[in-house]
Amino acid sequence: MTDHASAGTVTIMGVTGLPEFRPGDDLAAAIAEAAPWLENGDVLVVTSKVVSKAEGRLVAVPADADARDAERRRLVEAEAVRVIARKNRTLITENKLGIVQAASGIDASNVAGDELALLPENPDASAAALRTGIRERLGVEVAVVITDTMGRAWRVGQTDAAIGSSGLTVLHRYAGQIDRQGNELVVTEVAVADELASAADLVKGKTGGLPVAVVRGMTVTDDGSTAADLVRPTDEDLFRLGTEEALTQGRSEAVLMRRSVRFYTDEPIPEDAIRKAVGIALTAPAPHHTRPVRFVHVKERRKELLDAMRAQWRADLAADGWPEDRIDRRVRRGDLLYGAKEIVLPFLVREGAHSYPDAQRAEAERTMFTIAGGAAVQGLLVALAAEGIGSCWVSSTIFCAPVVREVLDLPADWEPLGAVAVGYPTDGPLSPRPPRDPADAFLEL
Ligand SMILES: Cc1cc2nc3c(=O)[nH]c(=O)nc-3n(C[C@H](O)[C@H](O)[C@H](O)COP(=O)(O)O)c2cc1C
Repeated sequence: MTDHASAGTVTIMGVTGLPEFRPGDDLAAAIAEAAPWLENGDVLVVTSKVVSKAEGRLVAVPADADARDAERRRLVEAEAVRVIARKNRTLITENKLGIVQAASGIDASNVAGDELALLPENPDASAAALRTGIRERLGVEVAVVITDTMGRAWRVGQTDAAIGSSGLTVLHRYAGQIDRQGNELVVTEVAVADELASAADLVKGKTGGLPVAVVRGMTVTDDGSTAADLVRPTDEDLFRLGTEEALTQGRSEAVLMRRSVRFYTDEPIPEDAIRKAVGIALTAPAPHHTRPVRFVHVKERRKELLDAMRAQWRADLAADGWPEDRIDRRVRRGDLLYGAKEIVLPFLVREGAHSYPDAQRAEAERTMFTIAGGAAVQGLLVALAAEGIGSCWVSSTIFCAPVVREVLDLPADWEPLGAVAVGYPTDGPLSPRPPRDPADAFLEL
């Protein structure tokens, strides 16, 4: 078969005269009796609700509307293995079959006021059993599709889709085939079972008490696949989470994305990414409503600055009495600023700081401004990490402040708060790490 569509005419016939099903009823017997006209190659499309009823998947709930609603919500969560999205009263879940739909497929329509219907436990198995039952009773080979009504993420309105099937190829893959214009159909895969489910709904409807229809005229093939094969594997799902849930996860992971990255790829940092991260960093809290932090993105003067800083460092270590080879090894730790794609220097300007006559409060005021600088630098690192950009905050400029100010021509009251190396990590993209155990770093008194 090169095309999933029937070449000729497809007919859809409702199966009339079916009873109201109750737990324990023989669905295959009832359908065989109501549709003795079934033929080989027909596709029997059955609303999951009647399968649920016959299989006893009804749950008694209080008749009172509020209590019933509460029980429905409880059941929706119980049937879900994962909540994908929650908005107002709508809950989109994944059930244990992997089916993603509203309310775990739990439904109050077409059931008694004090009952709710769960989905069939294993709709593919239900479809296979029904197929066997029809074969045994009527001697014909039909395909079976069990349907449920589902919304579509990007479109208003619901259509029926296959949640169980037996005896038909559920997916027609066009990969490698050529259309009449000579284009290769690389990605086209038609979900034939879903199309059959939808088509049959045009006859079955939702209110007419017609839960079963027969599609005749399709060229049915069977590769052994079932409706379960239509569930997209989680790792291929670009939309694993709802928008709200993705935002919530992103917020909770932003701080955990940051780690010190010391080796960087050559990949350029996007234009404006640093400016944007600085803007975010500048929202950090600061005392007395001041804005005491400045950032300098060092570009042209970078080599000159790093060389001057290194020379000062060597001189300091030599003055400490270190031998040359030991100094060589030690200053190599500063290489990461040479290797970073970009460097940003944070500074503190103690504008607006209060002055005190006593040393204790003067020192406290100093500390207050210094920690505000730290908060802003952490903000910068987290903002970069949230964009997937690595960084490492190093202390070196703090130890050679006059050199830094001189090379960069900065005012005497700009106090360096270290340097931030920026770049994409060589060891792969940033990912959130687990939070630390607060343990003895956290007291509740
Ligand atoms: C003020 C400050 C100065 C730091 N100085 C350096 C440094 O000079 N060189 C360096 O490699 N890392 C430096 N770090 C980074 C720490 O080593 C790093 O944060 C620590 O090892 C924890 O690792 P993590 O950042 O990946 O969580 C500094 C961090 C801070 C906050």
